[in-house]
Amino acid sequence: MNAAAPTLPVVILISGRGSNLQAIVHAIANDRLPVDIRAVISNRPDAGGLQRAAQAGITTAVIDHSLYPDRAAFDAALQECIEGFQPALVVLAGFMRILTAGFVHHYQGRMLNIHPSLLPDFPGLHPHQRALEAGCKEHGASIHFVTEAVDGGPVVLQARVPVQPHDTVTTLAARVLEQEHRLYPLAIRWFAEQRLRLDNSGHAVLDDRVLTGPVIVTQETEVSF
Ligand code: GRF
Repeated sequence: MNAAAPTLPVVILISGRGSNLQAIVHAIANDRLPVDIRAVISNRPDAGGLQRAAQAGITTAVIDHSLYPDRAAFDAALQECIEGFQPALVVLAGFMRILTAGFVHHYQGRMLNIHPSLLPDFPGLHPHQRALEAGCKEHGASIHFVTEAVDGGPVVLQARVPVQPHDTVTTLAARVLEQEHRLYPLAIRWFAEQRLRLDNSGHAVLDDRVLTGPVIVTQETEVSF
């Protein structure tokens, strides 16, 4: 990558261990992602990802949702915190809060999420368990632009993995997570390179073409992260 390439200011929101955050940090360190993580913000003070961020020298902040009377008050505080870092992209990486319409609208076309299922299948909680219960032969992860519908925005990129006969939630989640770590840096890189955007009609556009479905990555696909 050209060392002089402009970098995209990004804020990453987390709620937990932060392995996707770590994958993004690695991609930047390997000079594969022209991104400046301005801050990592967690809604939980005990999120493991905060330590990972601090170790990487990234500014961290906590907006503890339990201290706010309702979603609107929490989202207003979160937005104010984010705005202090002036990001061009907000990255939800295991951020486990439903966001209000006003917040989502403010970041329309500038906010990505990762969800561990082949959306539109299994939005919301416990996707691995539900995929196993449904007897799916394939499962995976999706990157999408965030819209008001929970896990419902246009899907940009998807990784598919086979479901094995003896899979448990743990083994399946681990197989999917490995792919998540390849997907997110790739989608963010597309956005940073201005190859990926959301158009005015709410469609994801990659390389000037409206995506009629997500770009698919399998375990065999070469992804340079
Ligand atoms: C990931 O599976 C992500 O897709 C989901 O929550 C999990 C977060 O993992 N939304 P981590 O905090 O990035 O390790």
